[in-house]
Amino acid sequence: MVKITNRTAIFFIRLITSTFVNGYTILTLYFKLMSIKDLYILGIESSCDDTSAAIIYNGKVLSNVVAGQKIHEAYGGVVPELASRAHQQNIVPVVHQALKVANINKNQLSAIAFTNGPGLMGSLLVGTSFAKSMALSLRIPLIAVNHMQAHILAHFIEDENQSVPPFPFICLTISGGHTQLVKVTNYFEFEILGETTDDAVGEAFDKTAKILGLPYPGGPLIDKYALLGNPKAFSFTKPKVGDLEFSFSGLKTGILYFIQKNIKENPQFIKQNLPDICASVQRTIVEILMEKIYNAVKQTGITHIAIAGGVSANSEIRKTLKATEQLHGWNTYIPKFEYTTDNAAMIGIVGYLKYLQNSFSNQSISARARLGIED
Ligand code: KG4
Ligand code: ZN
Repeated sequence: MVKITNRTAIFFIRLITSTFVNGYTILTLYFKLMSIKDLYILGIESSCDDTSAAIIYNGKVLSNVVAGQKIHEAYGGVVPELASRAHQQNIVPVVHQALKVANINKNQLSAIAFTNGPGLMGSLLVGTSFAKSMALSLRIPLIAVNHMQAHILAHFIEDENQSVPPFPFICLTISGGHTQLVKVTNYFEFEILGETTDDAVGEAFDKTAKILGLPYPGGPLIDKYALLGNPKAFSFTKPKVGDLEFSFSGLKTGILYFIQKNIKENPQFIKQNLPDICASVQRTIVEILMEKIYNAVKQTGITHIAIAGGVSANSEIRKTLKATEQLHGWNTYIPKFEYTTDNAAMIGIVGYLKYLQNSFSNQSISARARLGIED
């Protein structure tokens, strides 16, 4: 049975507008509506060090299984060869588990969506080859998904407890590899307003953690220790870059020198001050991110603000952004915790949106380590 939810209705209202703009007739749209059936999309994510599979049913998440890779902890960062090997081991059981939790059979799948970039080539290749062969064997469509678009479009996963950002909105995309302020005008219309000139904010968290002797990924640990510390205990110099640009490599060096200097005077410095160091570093990073959002609001006049990507799991950025609703009357969109770090539900939802637009890929598609958000 076709179930038209509010989200689906909104999608079609938007589609009608773009259909007229594109010069199609109302008849085309009518046939499109009539051809909609129950859609089960298998999403596959393998761009970095998480192997994930999810089942999306008409925009809702039925399952979202993520297998992390503990192996990188000891190395202070992701080792590409080890990541690729772990994906190969994980992908079959993870997909199997996603189908099992969703309580469906692989023959019920309507399409397979997979991350084709950006990311680590060896990791991407595992998900790409798996998705291609599975789609071929089941004779169902294949849908290539841009990982960075997926982080943003995770906001369109159907969930009664989450509000959906209206177009246009601004999304601060913060992850281990990216830091971007993006203006989102439609599901697949993105404009980068500003981005980092060097390190991503996730790297700033992870490298600080490494300096402090914490394992990879350090972001969640800094968040955890920061809860116990004084955010004003230490201060760090903020970068001087353009209004909508970011830079974190100077901050990282500043933190390194600060720690080296203090350890020289007191070898127990980190041990005795860990919560205060974490809270102070986190406060500095969140202040930098918030300043950039203010600048983007000032320049565009858009006050619908979303965050996405692994670093959007950070409790301080979530709290500080939420507070702007009272302070400035903005509308903020904070993703559910499970859709912040890498996951296949976000790949599945993009697969669903692309399916509705008949945007499919063919078997000649390959993994792309470098892929811009506008691609
Ligand atoms: O989106 P993601 O899972 O992978 C990439 O596409 O890069 O982001 C991973 C990044 C890591 O740098 C990790 O330390 C950071 O997100 N992260 C956090 C938190 N949770 C994950 N950073 C700060 N606070 C957190 N709670
Ligand atoms: Zn990511």
